[in-house]
Amino acid sequence: MEKLLISGGIPLKGEVKISGAKNSVLPILAASLLCEEDLIIGNVPHLQDVTTTISLLTEMGANLSIDEKMKVSVNAASVKKFYAPYEMVKTMRASILVLGPLLAHFGEAKVSLPGGCAIGSRPVNLHIDGLKAMGANIKVEDGYIFAKAKKLKGAKITLPIATVTGTENLMMAAVLANGRTVIKNAAKEPEIIDLANCLRLMGAQIKGDGTSSITVDGVKELRGCNYDVLPDRIETATFLVAAAITKGKLTLTHTRPDTLKIIIEKLKKAGADISIKNDIINIEVNKQLNSVNITTNPYPDFPTDMQAQFIALNSISKGKSKVVESVFENRFMHVQELVRMGANIDINGNVATIDGVKSLTGAPVMATDLRASASLILAGLVAKGETVVDRIYHIDRGYECIEEKLTKLGANIKRLPQ
Ligand code: UD1
Repeated sequence: MEKLLISGGIPLKGEVKISGAKNSVLPILAASLLCEEDLIIGNVPHLQDVTTTISLLTEMGANLSIDEKMKVSVNAASVKKFYAPYEMVKTMRASILVLGPLLAHFGEAKVSLPGGCAIGSRPVNLHIDGLKAMGANIKVEDGYIFAKAKKLKGAKITLPIATVTGTENLMMAAVLANGRTVIKNAAKEPEIIDLANCLRLMGAQIKGDGTSSITVDGVKELRGCNYDVLPDRIETATFLVAAAITKGKLTLTHTRPDTLKIIIEKLKKAGADISIKNDIINIEVNKQLNSVNITTNPYPDFPTDMQAQFIALNSISKGKSKVVESVFENRFMHVQELVRMGANIDINGNVATIDGVKSLTGAPVMATDLRASASLILAGLVAKGETVVDRIYHIDRGYECIEEKLTKLGANIKRLPQ
């Protein structure tokens, strides 16, 4: 398994271009299954999860091409298999996003249940319940979801939890349904708006995305379009923390500062100097920051996908802090690894109490999931000596060319072969 070797202690300096958002491109790729024309997607990040989704669509029979600028063109007219096998879904839970589009366009789908993962049980019952409310006939057998519907019909669906991919699946199912669907307590993440923007360009009738009530009026068919995905707010935030933790000075370009309000607020509160101009964020830190309390919650609150990185930052900031994880039940796997690097962290249920230390020391550590890997890399960038992060395949799922980007900013980081 590949590893990353990091020699810490270098303040990061320079400019970094933010890539397209993982959590936008995955549902938008799945949306290609809703029409028979070319969906041409730009600003596609080069990520393992994108490769997995492309393989899944190709396996189903879609025609795909990618140009040298990572513009991906998908045509689903030739799709013959309405099937997402366990082997793919287990490596990427977001494969569940093909369920709604397959059912809406082709009238059937067989999609593996994702099962548990490193950060909790992560069920998909709300996706299934919503589709059932739209008239789908669904049974779960042998670890698979078998879904059928001649024609979905609009429904009023109130989600008990504002699930992100659940909202996306139901929105995609509703665009081709008969009549009006209203999704209450919908997720409000910027990636939902991005998907809705793409679907509208394809001819869908959607209102209210970005609020907790989304209304979709079904249409007969959708057409192809050209769409550029939103910049990745989690990648942006991770680089902001990289600047903060190394006491560096970075300019992040091609980003969307309006999607990062709470992150910027927390970093400013910690003492970072941040300025924003259009799609550019400048950050400069030249002193030890104060630690900040955090509670993760759905957007626009603090994202669970940045909890691990902020725990790394709080580990070497001044004072005590509390980090409460309210979205996933088991998302503190990085903590024991940070403790091995000298961090002082206690966990009690879903609350981590961090007592900032003056410095961390390099150690061999193990990445357990995507954002945990990012947190260990951040810790490695500031630790004294060498850190080796094992199981680095997690990072390639969600961060484009992370070591190239960090090297360009002055970090001493290299990938060790298997
Ligand atoms: C998405 C993001 C992921 C992010 C998460 C929370 C994508 C591809 N992934 O994941 O990066 O960490 O949102 O912001 O966009 N739940 C149920 N039943 C369901 C669905 C969800 O109980 O049917 C629960 C989950 O266990 C979790 C909570 O709802 O506790 C939120 O999860 P959800 O928003 O669904 O996360 P994902 O969409 O999987």
